[in-house]
Amino acid sequence: MPIVEPPVQSPLSADLQAILRCLRCGSKLESDQAAGYLCPACKRVYPNAEGIARFVDAQHYAASFGFQWHRYRKTQLDHDEIRESERHFLAKTALRPEDLKGKLVLDVGCGMGRFAEVATRWGARVVGVDLSAAAEIAAQNLANRDFVAFQADVFALPFAPESFDVIYSIGVLHHTPDCEAAVKVLDKYLKPGGLLAVWLYSGYNKWYRFSDFWRRYTHKMKPQTLHRILKVAVPFFYNLQQGLRFVPLVGRPAAGVVHHVFPVNRQKDPEARMLDTFDWYSPKYQSKHTYEQVFKWYEAMGMEDMRVGDISIAVRGRKPARR
Ligand SMILES: C[S@@+](CC[C@H](N)C(=O)[O-])C[C@H]1O[C@@H](n2cnc3c(N)ncnc32)[C@H](O)[C@@H]1O
Repeated sequence: MPIVEPPVQSPLSADLQAILRCLRCGSKLESDQAAGYLCPACKRVYPNAEGIARFVDAQHYAASFGFQWHRYRKTQLDHDEIRESERHFLAKTALRPEDLKGKLVLDVGCGMGRFAEVATRWGARVVGVDLSAAAEIAAQNLANRDFVAFQADVFALPFAPESFDVIYSIGVLHHTPDCEAAVKVLDKYLKPGGLLAVWLYSGYNKWYRFSDFWRRYTHKMKPQTLHRILKVAVPFFYNLQQGLRFVPLVGRPAAGVVHHVFPVNRQKDPEARMLDTFDWYSPKYQSKHTYEQVFKWYEAMGMEDMRVGDISIAVRGRKPARR
């Protein structure tokens, strides 16, 4: 049987390689061909595996996301007829094409690359990082774009300070053990005058109480096991709710109760419904936030020109040009 080599990302351009830093000693990294990156000072090696450089030794708490994005690698990717990710990108970052065109952009927690796809389409050069093996899928999905993916942790990013014109992170930082610290750490990597946009789960509406209860148990399951259970539970609860709505008088309130106690995603497309329900029940960490909190964090970083997006909680700010 022929051995199929995994695709290796094309060598980094000299300017991108110049921003890579050793996590241990902070020295500039050297490329060691397809083998990965090497620190000439402390000799630490960051290997290439399955085509991308690894700056973590494991997926840690994000393994369910690795499973999720390998299983649903293209479900949310825009194509000729569908521009749903672009619509979400606009509403969740308040960034416009003119903010990104020709800019060096960091996508923190890129998943399978749906938003990096939009950003590259708008003319940005994008570096995507993800703690999970999803980074491999992003690299494959965007192989023909101005995009490079690394497996790396937001709390230990392999970049020089003030490297990026724009940093965004959509639906990621509330999945870390400390969302506030994760937002604030990004300031270091932003150029003066650069834009930071984050989108976090909203803490205003308490509809998620029951799913938080179930998640105490579901996040401990193997991703494969949880996925198998949801394959049965999602169509069951979805169809039950839909059916109840046709029962006169009590039907609609009963459907509401079912949705409240056993929430499953209600998108029309069954695959998108499964993906988003799995995404809801599988993560270990899932905090919710308010605009008051996030504005305080941005103010503590000294950000200015703050804007909000159309889907809560979306905050965008600018790092002052001079401090
Ligand atoms: C819900 S997914 C969102 C992915 C993508 N931003 C999107 O919206 O499609 C959350 C992603 O955050 C990543 N993630 C979680 N903790 C992280 C960390 N400490 N550093 C980098 N990525 C992280 C997960 O691996 C996962 O791919």
